[in-house]
Amino acid sequence: MPLPLPPTRCLLCSRSLWLVGRFAGMACVKEIAQCAATMSIPCFKEMAEGIDPSVVNVLALVGGLVLVRSALSVLASVFTTFLRPGKDLKKYGAWAVVTGATDGIGKAMAFQMAKKGMNVLLISRTEAKLVDAETEIKAACPSVEVAHLAIDYSNFDATLQAKVAAAIADKDVGILVNNVGVSYPFPKYFDELTDDEMKSLLEMNVNSTVWMTRLALPGMVARKRGAIVNFGSAAALNPSALLAGYSGAKGFILKMTESMHVEMAAKGIHVQCQVPLLVATKLAKIRRASLTAPSPATYAKAGVGAIGYGAVVSPYWAHKLQLFALSVIPWSEAVVFNMHKGLRARALKKLASKKD
Ligand SMILES: NC(=O)c1ccc[n+]([C@@H]2O[C@H](COP(=O)([O-])OP(=O)(O)OC[C@H]3O[C@@H](n4cnc5c(N)ncnc54)[C@H](OP(=O)(O)O)[C@@H]3O)[C@@H](O)[C@H]2O)c1
Repeated sequence: MPLPLPPTRCLLCSRSLWLVGRFAGMACVKEIAQCAATMSIPCFKEMAEGIDPSVVNVLALVGGLVLVRSALSVLASVFTTFLRPGKDLKKYGAWAVVTGATDGIGKAMAFQMAKKGMNVLLISRTEAKLVDAETEIKAACPSVEVAHLAIDYSNFDATLQAKVAAAIADKDVGILVNNVGVSYPFPKYFDELTDDEMKSLLEMNVNSTVWMTRLALPGMVARKRGAIVNFGSAAALNPSALLAGYSGAKGFILKMTESMHVEMAAKGIHVQCQVPLLVATKLAKIRRASLTAPSPATYAKAGVGAIGYGAVVSPYWAHKLQLFALSVIPWSEAVVFNMHKGLRARALKKLASKKD
């Protein structure tokens, strides 16, 4: 029977824990049955007599090995989350290109990479915000070059693609962060999405990622080095009722990345999908950061530290724990559905009160 777990990597090894439960549980059957037999419970007595001791010993051995493996994978997860040093990003090339770089996660990722000595090209929609972000990063990191380009990804046509191509033509682009994205204004049933909302989900999440990758990749391939970070979401790993369009768009990014991770490794390029849960940004409509919804800066420290490691990663520790919980509880789809129903009810109430 296939395991009902998402095919994530670098998360806590929930599959192993599931197996531990299963094998250790089986190995315990004899003990429990014998115990029950001494308590004269007839069906357990039969069970105790029916189990071959050699089978139990083999199961106990397998259970023990799986326990060791699980313990090692927990230790590895602690190491990768808290102790592993980040890669030397400049080895990928001198420049990092970040889309959606004037706010939220994108701006924080650009800042963090500049702190690590990367020159950064900020791409986003609003010229004034780009100038502000550029000034801010230059002031904090005077030794790096910062440039910007105003692009509206809601219609990333051939003209705009040519603008990006011209902007990166003379740059040694080592890292591309495909961060720009959009979600729903609030959770909705799929039939309630407007055509414009659906187009925007595809254009901003899928098309921006596909075409930016195609623009940056030839240079990286020629130089035989580079790293591409695509922003997915936890909504791409797990069914996300009432965010189906967003979940599907991010799912495209996740699957494309997983395949590219394998094929582009042969050309010296690391391709990765980061799958955050909530981060306190405008997109998430969260103003105040918390342990479970970190500030963009806190997320970016973990996010930049994870560049070059793994195909699919959720680098912030509390997100990893939440994903682990979602992977082991059998009713996780209902939990997410109910959470979104609550958010939807609140948003509808707010909309109604605005109309009054
Ligand atoms: N925040 C979360 O909880 C969360 C969770 C999972 C995944 N993610 C993913 O993480 C990524 C970043 O999200 P975020 O929360 O940091 O978003 P955000 O705070 O809303 O920032 C969005 C950025 O994208 C730019 N942008 C918006 N529309 C644009 C357009 N049409 N053309 C060009 N740029 C545009 C914005 O520029 P302006 O300032 O000009 O508007 C801004 O710089 C997204 O892909 C999102 O799906 C976020």
